[in-house]
Formats: sequence, structure tokens, C-alpha cells
Amino acid sequence: MRVVETINDIRAIVKSQRAAGKSIGFVPTMGCLHEGHISLARESIRENDFTIMSIFVNPTQFGVNEDFDKYPRRLEEDSRMAEEVGVDVIFAPSVKEMYPGSYKTFVNVEGITEVLCGKSRPGHFRGVTTVVSKLFNIVQPDKAYFGQKDAQQVLVIKKMVKDLDMNIDIITCPIVREHDGLAMSSRNVYLSGEERKAALVLSKSLFEAEKMILNGERDCKKILNYINEKIAAENRAQVDYISMVDVESLEEISEIQRNVLIALAVKIGGTRLIDNVIVEV
Ligand code: PAF
Repeated sequence: MRVVETINDIRAIVKSQRAAGKSIGFVPTMGCLHEGHISLARESIRENDFTIMSIFVNPTQFGVNEDFDKYPRRLEEDSRMAEEVGVDVIFAPSVKEMYPGSYKTFVNVEGITEVLCGKSRPGHFRGVTTVVSKLFNIVQPDKAYFGQKDAQQVLVIKKMVKDLDMNIDIITCPIVREHDGLAMSSRNVYLSGEERKAALVLSKSLFEAEKMILNGERDCKKILNYINEKIAAENRAQVDYISMVDVESLEEISEIQRNVLIALAVKIGGTRLIDNVIVEV
């Protein structure tokens, strides 16, 4: 498996694979790989002839007081994991390669980026859509793979691809969880042992809310109160948002009449974690 750092190098590889008639699957990541990323790579390898993974901690999607500087960077270990699963090439550009000093162009999806995570992380999705469009232009994949854990990110990227007529299939893969339910995330490495235990309140409250709906509860207020109380009882947890929204428009709903996305962001100590569940009714 090759690791390339320049746009010219990855373009040359893509060109030769295309000339050989190969289909290209793409897994964009910020590295610090875990089983969630690996599940995306596996799916890409299964569905395509050639799989490219990008590893790039994208500065434009981090706010000024966020964790860009301390975000874990482990290219060597990541390369080993990617090679083991069968990724063909890693594209790991520098910040300068992606955003030279003269850089001035941004891609923004309106509306659905202003709710949920967009409210507390203004500019975050603009950074995501900008870097993902650049990566799509560079790699020109047939299919690209994203995790359902970032439910809003997937919707935003699908909207961008549709609105900008990008000829790429966006494939969403299920959330991968630890044995006890914690959604896998590169940011889990920030958690102390006690915080790791406290973080279970996210998935536990989501699963219980799901049970309430499957047992017939339709009043979102009651469900949201239940989740809020459960999380408030965990003193290491501080709620950013807990929302029940339409699975496509992300508009808040008050009474469940169709499938619903329950999404939340909660700070455990200094670490902001997100999780979600889609309940089909
Ligand atoms: O989900 C992520 O890891 C990032 O937001 C992405 C899609 C790689 C863009 O930097």
C-alpha cells in the first residue's frame, strides 16, 4: 500500500487506475482510525476495484477554541491498519498542500447546516463541505463512504453532491459501537476511565428512547424530557443539544408520525461527543 502526500501523485494513481478500467471507492477520514473507519474501508473494498483513503485533519472545520491542535495524529499506525484491511492507497496531504496561502474558495450548504451541530459549531460544515469537495475533485471516486455516526454530515454531503451535480454515490454505513454501546469516535481517546464510563449515558439514553417509541410513545416532549433527565443525572455530562428531527429535513418534530432521528451532543468533561439513532415507525 502506498502513502502519497501530493495532489499530483494521487491524481497520477487515479489516472492509471481509470485507464485500467477500475472503479474507485473513497473513504475520507481525519485519521486516528478505529473500527468505524475500517468498516467504511471494508465496504469500499467490497464494492469497488480500488480503494483510496484520505487522512487529513482539516483545519477549516475546527472552530478557534476547538481541538485542531490536539486532534490525534497517528499516520504510521493508521497506515498499518488500512493496509491490513486492504486499502490500496492513502492520501495524506499537508495543510499547505490542501490550502496554499492564496486559498480563498469555500463551499457552503445552507439551512440544514445551521441546526444541531451547526448551531454550536458555526462554520464547521462549511469546512467539511469545502474539504470534501476538494477531495472529491482530486480523487474523482465512483463511490464515497461516510459513517452514520455523523448523521448531519452525511445529509449535508448528500445535499452538496445533489445540488452541485457531483457524479458520486454517497454510501452511509452503520454506526460501529464498542461492546457496551459507546459509539466509536477518534475523540474517545480524550476520555479518562471515569469519563469513558460516564459517556455510556449517551447510547443508553438513546436506546431507551428508542424503546419508548417502539412501545408506542409518540410525544417527543416526553421522550426528550426522559433523555434530558437521564443525562442530567450523570454529573460529568453537560448537554449541548438533544433533538428529535425529521430524518431528511432535520426539522424538529413534536409528534412522531414517521421515521425520526434522535440526535444529541453532550460534553463529557472537556470532550464533546455526538451520537444518534434513527427509529423507524
Ligand atoms: O468525518 C470526518 O472525519 C471528517 O469530517 C471528513 C469527512 C473526513 C472531512 O474532513
